[in-house]
Amino acid sequence: MNAYPTPHINAAPGDFAPAVLMPGDPKRARFIAENFFDGARPVNDVRGVQGYTGTYRGTPVSVMASGMGMPSIGIYAYELFRVFGVEAIFRVGSCGAMQENVHVRDVVLGQGACTDSRFAHQYRLPGTFAPLADFCLLKSAADIAGEMGLSFHVGNLLSSDLFYKDEEGVAPEDTAFARWRKMGVLAVEMESAALYMTAARAGKKALAICTVSDSLVTGESTTSAEREQSFTDMMTLALKCAVTL
Ligand code: HPA
Repeated sequence: MNAYPTPHINAAPGDFAPAVLMPGDPKRARFIAENFFDGARPVNDVRGVQGYTGTYRGTPVSVMASGMGMPSIGIYAYELFRVFGVEAIFRVGSCGAMQENVHVRDVVLGQGACTDSRFAHQYRLPGTFAPLADFCLLKSAADIAGEMGLSFHVGNLLSSDLFYKDEEGVAPEDTAFARWRKMGVLAVEMESAALYMTAARAGKKALAICTVSDSLVTGESTTSAEREQSFTDMMTLALKCAVTL
């Protein structure tokens, strides 16, 4: 597939930098471009999914929203990798903590992403695929997070198709959450597994950098001021990592 513009991105291949940051929310994409980039210019707005390209500390970088969920990020990542020559996508989003030691405002680097979706069925594999982050990006993000003094974790995310689950009548120890938690999964979100699989199939790179917005263990959640600070830390981390490509 090399026809452009694509059904979902109204841009030309050179419009995107090799590294693209992907928040879920289109308004976040604009905020990132306006507040963190130099010389940001719009490159997409199909369906209000805003994309911008500019520079960070002199290096070209792009940002475009993914929307919510695996089907949505799967579409945008496919088109960016396959048509627009993008080499690496950094998901920058939020997640819900699933372990006691993962606190609100912490950063979780998704070393792997488990999923309850059937996204991987398209590859017709004779087994179970393990969606993984690119190791170089992961190492660089962990090093930079350490230098920044952030409180961060590296491990498995769960990319779930369900934000609202019907588990009426299910015993607490039998819920999906309890089962994934027993396997040491750190946090739940809704996109990273599709991003990692799409990158793997395209021979490209991806990393999910998530801040913990709420805890499924303690019920704790972040205030809007806290979310803003942790968002700024996450963006700085993602951008420093993106320009080391
Ligand atoms: N579920 C899915 N995605 C999320 C959650 C959650 O509880 N919290 C933040 N992103």
